[in-house]
Amino acid sequence: MKQLFHFCLYLGMLSLNACGGGGGDSASSANSSTASTNSTPTPTKTVFSWQLPTGFPEPRIPDDNPITTEKIALGKYLFYDNRLSITNTQACAGCHLQNKAFTDGLKTAIGSTGDALVRNSMSLTNVVYNSRFNWANPQLKTLHAQAKVPMFAEFPVELGWSNNEQKILDRLRVEPLYKDLFTKAFPNETEPFTEGNVAKAIANFVSTLISGNSSYDQVIYQQKTAAMSDSAKRGRDLFFSERLECFHCHGGFNFSQSVNHQGTVFDEIEYHNNGLYNLENKGLYPMNNRGLWDVTFINEDMGRFRAPTLRNIELTAPYMHDGSIATLEEVLEHYARGGRLIESGEFAGDGAKNPYKSNLINGFVLTTDEKQDVINFLKSLTDWEFICNRNFSDPFGNQPMHAKCQ
Ligand code: HEC
Ligand code: HEC
Repeated sequence: MKQLFHFCLYLGMLSLNACGGGGGDSASSANSSTASTNSTPTPTKTVFSWQLPTGFPEPRIPDDNPITTEKIALGKYLFYDNRLSITNTQACAGCHLQNKAFTDGLKTAIGSTGDALVRNSMSLTNVVYNSRFNWANPQLKTLHAQAKVPMFAEFPVELGWSNNEQKILDRLRVEPLYKDLFTKAFPNETEPFTEGNVAKAIANFVSTLISGNSSYDQVIYQQKTAAMSDSAKRGRDLFFSERLECFHCHGGFNFSQSVNHQGTVFDEIEYHNNGLYNLENKGLYPMNNRGLWDVTFINEDMGRFRAPTLRNIELTAPYMHDGSIATLEEVLEHYARGGRLIESGEFAGDGAKNPYKSNLINGFVLTTDEKQDVINFLKSLTDWEFICNRNFSDPFGNQPMHAKCQ
């Protein structure tokens, strides 16, 4: 299925509805109510209508940041614009590259001033469906709140906005391109150039990064049974088996947990320790990177992280919150052993014996062929339409597309 987006126009009271009845998105209801109380035509505001992959639920968008095509258009430029960092060297896209499914290929990320982060850059595949953001931060509930983390982070610095807000906003203000884009995106505001609006526009753009046309999707949702190899199909059955248990934590349409959409009833938030470390034989994870524990200081939260989506996982190496596993083969070996053994050095310890490890991580035995089947299944989650989608690519033309894209 094609990932086309289509739009409906609301011009003052007149509603030229080109949505084809996809109704119910918070943006259209929010906007039609403004339209009905306003008798003079307001500036054009084009409300976004989802054109979702087959089988995908409708996203739930925060009330305080409805999606419009103008905000998406602005957000796309900001996401890729190096002027977004105090050093003029990095934007969101510096750590989230489309040709790597919006990751950066590094073990752990580097901020604009050279500061080292402790975490691996996450994929932005389908983040609109997350109920929580980042590897282990239960307080981050919206994409515009999340965007302010890289903007304002100080220890370590990412984009370097703290104490530099006006300087960076002034840069954007004097750029003719942005005068138009900001005014259109925030038409009723006398001063649209604010940090909050930057975050909101970027969040709108990031919400559209939806991937649902992998070989796996073609088999499951589009009846194209030949799209996956027999090996990948056997791998799928293993992935969804009680022997491997993967699907308990990487399940559902998004191969993740902590999901949020129009069909979810409960606020799902799950974090797990999957046995990567066992420092001092006390179940400890390395300092400053202890997952949920860094937020709650509760023993049981030691090493607990969010199970991320496995969509496009082939392109997002290295793996885990600290990038400490280099390949998918090694990820499988880690799970097969029921935790990672680090024999020597400062992180020595047997993760399989971590007392806080999830009871779903127990180890299993796979033949060489079966291992290859699971890997082939994981690779069937790669969505080339997503990776090559020009709607998501660098409007300044600096970032190279993946070699597989025309
Ligand atoms: C210096 C590299 C860097 C920059 C710049 C950066 N990010 Fe990230 N991003 C990361 C890392 C690392 C994580 C994981 C953070 C954590 O868990 O502590 C992340 C996580 C995220 C997530 C959470 C994904 C999920 O599944 O929960 C989103 C969304 C995101 N970034 C969007 C952005 C946006 C938008 C910008 C620009 C405003 C941006 N990032 C700038 C490195 C970066
Ligand atoms: C108990 C829940 C649980 C089970 C079961 C589980 N995982 Fe995970 N998975 C996680 C968590 C949590 C993380 C992140 C852990 C971290 O970074 O410390 C993760 C990370 C991963 C990653 C790296 C993701 C990335 O973006 O870096 C891959 C790949 C993965 N799991 C594959 C699998 C496979 C394959 C199986 C089955 C053999 C499996 N998982 C079973 C919870 C689980």
